Amino acid sequence: MYGTLFYDFKFKLCKGIFGILHDLLISVETITFYNAPIHYFYQKFKIMKLVFATNNMHKLEELQAIIGDRFDLLSLQEIGCNEEIPEEQPTLEGNARQKAFYIFTKYGYPCFADDTGLEIEALNGEPGVFSARYAGPVKNSDDNMKKVLELLAKIKNRNARFRTVISLVINGEERQFEGIVVGEIINGKKGQSGFGYDPIFQPSEFDKTFAEMALKDKNKISHRGRAVQKLVQYLKMLELNND
Ligand code: IMP
Repeated sequence: MYGTLFYDFKFKLCKGIFGILHDLLISVETITFYNAPIHYFYQKFKIMKLVFATNNMHKLEELQAIIGDRFDLLSLQEIGCNEEIPEEQPTLEGNARQKAFYIFTKYGYPCFADDTGLEIEALNGEPGVFSARYAGPVKNSDDNMKKVLELLAKIKNRNARFRTVISLVINGEERQFEGIVVGEIINGKKGQSGFGYDPIFQPSEFDKTFAEMALKDKNKISHRGRAVQKLVQYLKMLELNND
């Protein structure tokens, strides 16, 4: 099924040369004349282009390093997608799916997209899919945390979890991967690193919030890290099946 996306050759021998040529040619890919050599190199080196529906280059580079050379990750910008991708669904699954299919349908690339939410037990799973804009459309993390702390002020049950859903669409077929980390909402903010709700979320069996952890330690146990590990395992399995 995925045969058309992978091509056969001992790519590893020529990886270095390919990297340089690829970087040179990708910048002129829209010119038809150059498409043939690019296609030729992708065939030879058995590379699959895969769009990660993000413009966060840091996230993209991090994932490229984990995923390896057989997958050439492209950002939204690199495929000429500068519009805002719709995220109108009531669930993380729905939003991740909507984003991945939007790219696949409009741009024709295999693609994956993620969506994450903080789910608090005593708040019936809120903020969930509204995590970014819980306190309003400005998407301010301090306001969001303030709202959560106020809502939980008199509540003993502080159980919460972060959940990430990744939707991968290849040849119009979708697969989803979920990553969860459980923990609790502490009484106030602690720590300076990270983003979003990190200063008020303490993962179970740790005495630090996410905002007090080094990024590499957070990534090992985080919702996103766990979902990405499952995605990578699946992509490597595809890679092996096509050798
Ligand atoms: P996104 O789907 O990755 O854009 O995440 C949606 C929102 O969830 C973000 O705007 C943050 O408020 C929150 N969030 C996602 N991941 C994290 C995390 O690792 N730490 C803290 N907050 C997060």
